[in-house]
Amino acid sequence: MASLSPSEALVLVTGGSGFLGTYCIIALLNAGYQVRTTIRSLTKSSFITTSLKTGGISDASLKNLSFIAADLTKDEGWPKAAEGCTYILHVASPFPANLPKHEDDLIIPAREGTLRVLRAAKISGVKRVVVTSSFAAVAYGHPAQSSPFTEESWTDTLSLDVTPYEKSKTVAERAAWDYVNSPEGEGLELSVINPVGIFGPVLSSDFSTSIILIQRQLNGDLAGCPRLVFGIVDVRDCASPHLLAMTHPKAAGERFIGISGKAMSVQEIAFCLKERMPNEARRTKTRILPDWLVRFIALFDGEVRSVAPMIGKRIDGSGEKAKKVLRWEPRSREDAVVATGESLVRLGLLKK
Ligand SMILES: *[C@@H]1O[C@H](CO)[C@@H](O)[C@H](O)[C@H]1NC(C)=O
Repeated sequence: MASLSPSEALVLVTGGSGFLGTYCIIALLNAGYQVRTTIRSLTKSSFITTSLKTGGISDASLKNLSFIAADLTKDEGWPKAAEGCTYILHVASPFPANLPKHEDDLIIPAREGTLRVLRAAKISGVKRVVVTSSFAAVAYGHPAQSSPFTEESWTDTLSLDVTPYEKSKTVAERAAWDYVNSPEGEGLELSVINPVGIFGPVLSSDFSTSIILIQRQLNGDLAGCPRLVFGIVDVRDCASPHLLAMTHPKAAGERFIGISGKAMSVQEIAFCLKERMPNEARRTKTRILPDWLVRFIALFDGEVRSVAPMIGKRIDGSGEKAKKVLRWEPRSREDAVVATGESLVRLGLLKK
């Protein structure tokens, strides 16, 4: 296939309403691509448009974006969504309406959803799919590590410590690799990005656990800092390797883990906020919370519960491969943290 200039290439982004999905759309439109995004319901399109405008996208650029309804848990819509696309960024994860009763209720839709996208890509002659996996598919179910994980590391789905979410991300990524290595998927190029904690400027009041951590620290709603250490990436620096992996000749067939700057502890985040945003962070508490107390708080606080299994572990990749192969250069972890805080101030999402 002759290579297309960005303005001729159509890119499908799945999950355009999510934090990372929206930033992938922004990066693609700014690079001059034609973009199509799938959403579960077309009524969500005005929410995305508003977020994109908050992210600096002009009305003229929005003309190069279209919406199509498709749900990862259903077959309808996917062939049409992939039609005519040169690339697909598969950012979406299926989103269970209710907390699943059995882990298979999370794992099977995650695997099937990824396969729906890949099959549609193959049938439509898409050149390459970039799948957003997660550090959840890399780093869990292992004893505490002293050195960073590598591209060869996989979450041990047989470990009793591994949650259904982590299993679902692992199984879905493995299914993607198995598909492109099978006769059915032959010829379709795959590249996978495994980010760690995604921070950065929020575009709406609908946000993830990592953003809630910053919001709670600034509001003084956390009694202190749980002993957690994780890699941090600004959402813009998480979108950029998706675009690089989409076109870089050496990215096909490769996995890029630990898309993050250096890891940071929750306490280091608190100190960073206090130093760089002293007024807004006047309520931020920097003392370390004992592990037993965090586990106790987790009993009645869902946000804390979701991070409790990670206490004392280092959730850290190096990001070195992305830097070397893709020439990826993320901003500093401190800038990612501060960008999050400043956006919460700007959008009026903190306590007065
Ligand atoms: C939209 O796409 C067209 C190509 O079809 C391109 O010429 C134009 O510059 C794009 N608009 C913006 C604002 O990027």
